[in-house]
Amino acid sequence: MIVLGGSASSDLAWKVAKELNAKHGEVEIKKFPDGEKYVRVVDEVKGEPVVVVQSLYRTPDEYLVELLLLVDALRDLGATTITGVVPYLAYARQDARFKPGEAISSLTVAKLFESAGMTSFLTVDTHLHRLESVSKVFHIPAHNLSSMPLLGRYALENLNAKKPVVVGPDEEAEPWAATVAKELDADHTVFRKKRVSSTKVEIDTGDLEMKGRDIVFADDIISTGGTIAESAKLCEKKGARMIYALCSHPILAEGAVERMTEAGVRKIVGTDSIPSPISKVSCAPVIADGIRRL
Ligand code: R5P
Repeated sequence: MIVLGGSASSDLAWKVAKELNAKHGEVEIKKFPDGEKYVRVVDEVKGEPVVVVQSLYRTPDEYLVELLLLVDALRDLGATTITGVVPYLAYARQDARFKPGEAISSLTVAKLFESAGMTSFLTVDTHLHRLESVSKVFHIPAHNLSSMPLLGRYALENLNAKKPVVVGPDEEAEPWAATVAKELDADHTVFRKKRVSSTKVEIDTGDLEMKGRDIVFADDIISTGGTIAESAKLCEKKGARMIYALCSHPILAEGAVERMTEAGVRKIVGTDSIPSPISKVSCAPVIADGIRRL
């Protein structure tokens, strides 16, 4: 087996190859002066099962095209199977037609992956909330893995949380909060969130008793940090002791970490599905395990 990464996930691909004791494949990727991408698979892949790792963050369209070029090239070059690993799956949030005429972007992206030649697909803590499973958008074997057990274990070993309660900042985050809570042997709950705009949310904490307790937020994505910051301010007001935030995908738009820190969040931890200064937990073991189980 050969594991290679696009330019969004070259380090993560290395780690996955190491976990699997597989060969790390070399690729050459360049950008032409007009903005087009060039990709070249350096290793001989004929007759080999190949895994391509590429997260679609920050410049998702660019990374998406790179991934499609890599997968199509691998098929042409004779790879026996091509597993696409997209830890952060951009376009997943548009998984329904909310207004007439909208593109259902998650379906479009799935069709592109399949037509380029992916034979199986893995993602991590994806945001396809309106669908019961990621396999509903694919015709190839497709699985949604989770970094939450690893984030929970990290919290257990590093945060020393007192009387912790794990909180999903909205109802959709309940399964993530539950998983982290299990690792911490703690209670969990969810807040109610109303999104007013892409940068503003309103949070209802319900009747959770927080005095003297530590709050550990668990969410899939931290983007502007607005959700966690607003939630944290309310927790402080209600007497929470320490506030921590865990996320699978630290998108971290500009100012996100400062916004959360100023709101009272003591420590913010994410995975390397998106490389960032808070990516303290690697999702490589989760991905490697998912590949072994295919
Ligand atoms: C939304 O439903 C997600 O689970 C996250 O809560 C959201 O993407 C976080 O965004 P932000 O950090 O911009 O508030």
